[in-house]
Formats: sequence, C-alpha cells, structure tokens
Amino acid sequence: MLDFTFHNPTRIIFGKDAQGQVGKETRAMGKKALLHYGGGSAVRSGLLDQVKASLTEAGVDFVELGGVQPNPVLSLVEKGIALCQQEDVDCILAVGGGSVIDSAKAIGVGVAMNEDIWPCFLGQKKVTATIPVGSVLTIPAAGSESSVSCVITNEDGWFKRGINSPIILPVFACINPQLTFTLPPYQVGCGCTDILAHMMERYFTNTKNVDVSDRMLEGIMRSVLLNAPITYQNPKDYDSRAEICWAGTLAHNTLLDRGRIGDWASHGIEMEISGIYDIAHGAGLAIIFPAWMRYVYRHNIPRFLQFATRVMDVDMAMDDPDAIILESIRRLENFYRSIGMPVRLSEVEIGDDRLREMAEKTVVHLGGTRGNLIPLTADDIEAIYRLAL
Ligand code: NZQ
Ligand code: ZN
Repeated sequence: MLDFTFHNPTRIIFGKDAQGQVGKETRAMGKKALLHYGGGSAVRSGLLDQVKASLTEAGVDFVELGGVQPNPVLSLVEKGIALCQQEDVDCILAVGGGSVIDSAKAIGVGVAMNEDIWPCFLGQKKVTATIPVGSVLTIPAAGSESSVSCVITNEDGWFKRGINSPIILPVFACINPQLTFTLPPYQVGCGCTDILAHMMERYFTNTKNVDVSDRMLEGIMRSVLLNAPITYQNPKDYDSRAEICWAGTLAHNTLLDRGRIGDWASHGIEMEISGIYDIAHGAGLAIIFPAWMRYVYRHNIPRFLQFATRVMDVDMAMDDPDAIILESIRRLENFYRSIGMPVRLSEVEIGDDRLREMAEKTVVHLGGTRGNLIPLTADDIEAIYRLAL
C-alpha cells in the first residue's frame, strides 16, 4: 500500500427530504448564490421551485443560470463566471447531475481565480481557488457531488478535459433517491455504468498489498451489479435506487483509491467519444471498458483473475486463466446489455473514420501515453477503438 492522505469534507445529506435542507446549507456558504441547473428536468419535476422556496426561506438571495447540457461546455461556464462577477455572487448551488455540478465547479474556479481557466484543464496552470459550491443531486452517476474532478468540453477543437484538485471538492450534497425516480431508463443505465467504471478504474492497479481497498471495491461493485438491473426495471423502487445513489458517491469520493494507483485509461479513451459525438459518458464507457480489458489483461493476469472470480463469480478450472478472464468480460457485457447499454461503437452508429484522430487526441496533452496499468500509446488506443467497433 502506498502512503496517502484522506480528507473528503463534502457533507452528504442523504434521504427522503434531503433537498429540504438546501436553503440552510447554502446560507452557510454565503448570502447570494448562483442557482445553476440543466435543460429542464428540475423545472418539470417541481424540484427547482422547492429549492427556490428553501433558499428564500433561509434568506439566500439568488440569480439563475439554466441550460447546462450533458457534457457541459466552456462557453456556458464563461457566461456563468461573468454573471457571478456582475451580480457579486458568493457561492454556487448546482441542481442536477454531473454536468451541472461540473459546470458549477468550473464557474467557481473562474470567479475566484479571475483569469482564463482553460489552461488548468490542459494541466498548464494550477487550480488555486474557488468560491464554495454545493449541490442537489438528481442522477447517481458521475460522483461529482463529492469528487475532486470537473470535466468540461471546449467547443474550440472539441477537447473534453478535466481538472483534479481537492480545492474543488463541493461543500455539501443533498441526495434524495426519490429525486431520481423521473430519470429515463437510459440515463439510469448510463449512471450505473459510470459508477461501476469509477470502481473498475481504481481496481485495475499494479499496486500490491491493497486488500482493504480491494475488498471495499469488490463489495460495492457487487452491490452495483445486483442493484442496477433492479433499479433499471423498477424506477420507483426506493431501496435499490438508494443503494445506487450511495454507491455512486462512494465510488468517486477518493476513499476507494487511497494507497493505490488507478488506471483511468478507459475514461480518457471514452472522453474523446463523448467530446465529439452526442453520446452519454456512461454509454461510451460500456463500449470502451470491455475492449480495454481484452487489450490489456495479459499485463496483469492475477488482477484480472481476481476480478473475474471475486466480482463476476466466474467459477472455472484455474488452469486456463485466459478463459476465466474472457468469460468475466462477456459477463460484464451482458450486465451492460441488461441495463440498456450499447457495447460496440457500431451500435451507436460510430464508424472507423475518426478513430485515429481520437486516439491521438487522447494522449496529446499527456506526453504521449494514457493509463497506468500499462501506459497506452496512440497506436494502442486506436487498436482498442477498433476492438470496440
Ligand atoms: O439537463 P436535464 O434536463 O436536467 O436532463 C439531464 C440530462 O439530460 C437528465 N437528468 C438528470 N437528472 C434527472 C434527469 N432527467 C430526469 N430526471 C432527473 N432526476 O439526465 C441527463 C444526464 O445528466 P448529466 O448531468 O449529464 O449526467 P451525469 O451525472 O452522468 O454527468 C455526466 C458528465 O459528468 C462527467 C461526464 O464526463 C459528463 O460530462 N463526469 C464527471 C466526473 C466528475 N466531475 O467527477 C467524473 C465522471 O467520470 C465523468 O467524467
Ligand atoms: Zn466517469
């Protein structure tokens, strides 16, 4: 196990009336908030009105900026920064999913740093400050509600890039599983896939002697494999939705990767897809992760065998590790299919015309390789895209 520090101060308010606390929690961050939301689901469900009532009751003044689209873009972030500066806003409340929360995080950094923030996304400048950000979560998926990450797409070149810094950890997150009942099944599938992927990225490591985090990851991954099909089939089943919501937060709040180095190539490879094409991040991961596993598993057979036996319950003669691992990948694909996910690029009508361009973009700002289990070059990544066709 490697040396580490663990500190995740995001306060999680979880349960059936979590959003009722939002006024009080926001007031603790400041007097005037930017109320940031997406394309309309929070308006249609009545959640936004509830949030506004709670803010008003707590004495929080607010200005609004809606219209965050899935895979949020830099131009709206810049609009939000200008609005916050003009209105003298001192905190941000995001009502939505990963896209809204990420947009809020980027605005928070832009307001506090008061300079061009895109170089931070290219790793050319450090994130040094933010104004406080809190959220009411409406989809269990990205884990942004208590993560150190923020992913934004720059329309100039369609680069989808992230920043990672403890500075951007949100102050609080209100998580009421009932608020997710209105999600379309496809978004439920995408969310569950992303949650599982956050744990698989951490699980596939070369770091030795990480039994505690292995066991935690295996336990929560198994819970997602169990509860995702139930929640996909029964949108109003509170119990399975609650398990998925809590798994989504834990999967990405940095607890599960303390003392180990995760891989993260699949996320990088996927982001080129959802940065260019109109496809959800989760759906892209369901396509890329099995292809990545097939391409790299020979570099760490024991780790992939452990995944196959402990997580995917493959119970075959141990003298054929390849067969065991390939069976686990097939089971993973069947799981994705059971929650409505595509598992090939052709299923989402992506052909081979831009694969080389995407492969090169994946490594361009990272010194030529991506991933830690085995650093992948653009050639490797193109081969993975081709396996996913
Ligand atoms: O915009 P609205 O109308 O709200 O609709 C959204 C959106 O279309 C809808 N939705 C959300 N809650 C709903 C709902 N519809 C009905 N009822 C509800 N309760 O769902 C759609 C997807 O929302 P989005 O916020 O895009 O989903 P998600 O949470 O999966 O976020 C995806 C983004 O997060 C990034 C992804 O790359 C992607 O850009 N990620 C962020 C991470 C982080 N900050 O830590 C890590 C992740 O790996 C990921 O990269
Ligand atoms: Zn993700």
